[in-house]
Amino acid sequence: MSENTPIEKAEGKLGVMMPGLGAVATTFIAGIQAVKHGLSQPYGSLTQMGTIRLGKRTENRVPKIKDFVELTGLGDLVFGGWDIFTDNVYQSALNAGVLRKELLDQIRDDIERIEPWKAVFDQNYVKKLHGEHVKKAATKYDLAQMLMEDIQGFKEQNGLSRMVMVWCASTEIFMRQDPVHKTVESFEKAMKDIHPAIAPSMIYAYASIASGVPFANGAPNLTVDIPAMHELAGAKGVPIAGKDFKTGQTLMKTILAPGFKARLLGLNGWFSTNILGNRDGEVLDDPESFKTKEESKLGVLDYILQPHVYPELYKGLYHKVRINYYPPRGDNKEGWDNIDIFGWLGYPMQIKIDFLCRDSILAAPIVLDLALFLDLAQRCGMKGIQEWLSFYFKSPMCAPELYPEHDLFIQLMKLKNTLRHLKGEELITHLGLEYYD
Ligand SMILES: NC(=O)c1ccc[n+]([C@@H]2O[C@H](COP(=O)([O-])OP(=O)(O)OC[C@H]3O[C@@H](n4cnc5c(N)ncnc54)[C@H](O)[C@@H]3O)[C@@H](O)[C@H]2O)c1
Repeated sequence: MSENTPIEKAEGKLGVMMPGLGAVATTFIAGIQAVKHGLSQPYGSLTQMGTIRLGKRTENRVPKIKDFVELTGLGDLVFGGWDIFTDNVYQSALNAGVLRKELLDQIRDDIERIEPWKAVFDQNYVKKLHGEHVKKAATKYDLAQMLMEDIQGFKEQNGLSRMVMVWCASTEIFMRQDPVHKTVESFEKAMKDIHPAIAPSMIYAYASIASGVPFANGAPNLTVDIPAMHELAGAKGVPIAGKDFKTGQTLMKTILAPGFKARLLGLNGWFSTNILGNRDGEVLDDPESFKTKEESKLGVLDYILQPHVYPELYKGLYHKVRINYYPPRGDNKEGWDNIDIFGWLGYPMQIKIDFLCRDSILAAPIVLDLALFLDLAQRCGMKGIQEWLSFYFKSPMCAPELYPEHDLFIQLMKLKNTLRHLKGEELITHLGLEYYD
């Protein structure tokens, strides 16, 4: 039995702030309103629909996760965000074309009043976008101060007890760690020097963490995955998580690949291609933004299959990922996978997957769960990288000396065991020998 961690009560309102009020963010916000009005159910959300087994299989204790750990109720969520366009959440959701107009009209009053604050944006980091609704200041440090004023204002105007921030804005260009990312001191100096290694997403993350607000990164940008942010999060007692929501094709990969490996089936090649026509697709049409996404998508198989441990099965695996911008499809992405596997005596086989998915429908419950779990983490005194939330990410952040865990089922076990640990319940190992004593 683990020690029972003191958990602060989830009293009062929780503000959920999102840089980027596009397809994902508006589908999330509108979805919560629809659920609150009884128009639908929170399908896909572990915090709302998931259960957790406690104790022995003979005990029949399987509460819902939200009844087991104290999470903020949907009625206590308040939303805010920034965007480079002035559209309110109703208009932006209409433009995104994910949810039907008839549904949006039923919750119009709730979502129309959410208007974006001016963004911190620089086209050098997202080549395909141009927006006017943007803050102006002398340095990047001043921009961070302006974001902190937005955060404080949001808290005061809505009488919030706590806040979280989830990055739902566009994917920025590919960036590597720079020496200025090393410490909080060098990072702050670089912001004041308007250094190019400080991307807009990092300015939001800095403002969030410096304000004591947990931060999750839904895109593959470097953002909080740098030592300066880890240091700041530690010093401020703030939980952080990232990166890149694990939805469509990568979700399928992290479901299937552990299965192939479990049965020692070899892999010669895995070719993945996508067509999508939303703004995310348009942004990813730029090679520099695509490179950021590609890195995030490619890492998954290597970590799961461990070709250095299983060279006979996975060395030489050819893995390719393509994303094609194809406007007619809008948010309804189509992801094809061709998987060349081999089995006994090396005989080859093929698997074809055609996933007609809806990107933002898959991402919205992840935003909800991350917001609620990060808030829980903060109420439990957890700070820095929250590896137990790897379940939600394509490129999970972890301690520098570790490799990330990508297997969806190990990630889920880790998440649930973390919840059991927090509540002083026995961890579940699935050993089960005691049933046969
Ligand atoms: N939908 C998914 O399945 C999924 C999965 C993984 C990651 N993501 C990532 O989530 C992000 C959002 O996806 P989406 O489909 O909602 O895209 P979107 O293009 O519909 O929305 C992004 C919004 O961010 C705004 N924006 C861009 N830069 C900004 C900045 N600096 N500050 C404030 N606003 C800014 C854009 O104007 C746009 O409204 C993307 O980075 C995407 O790669 C999405």
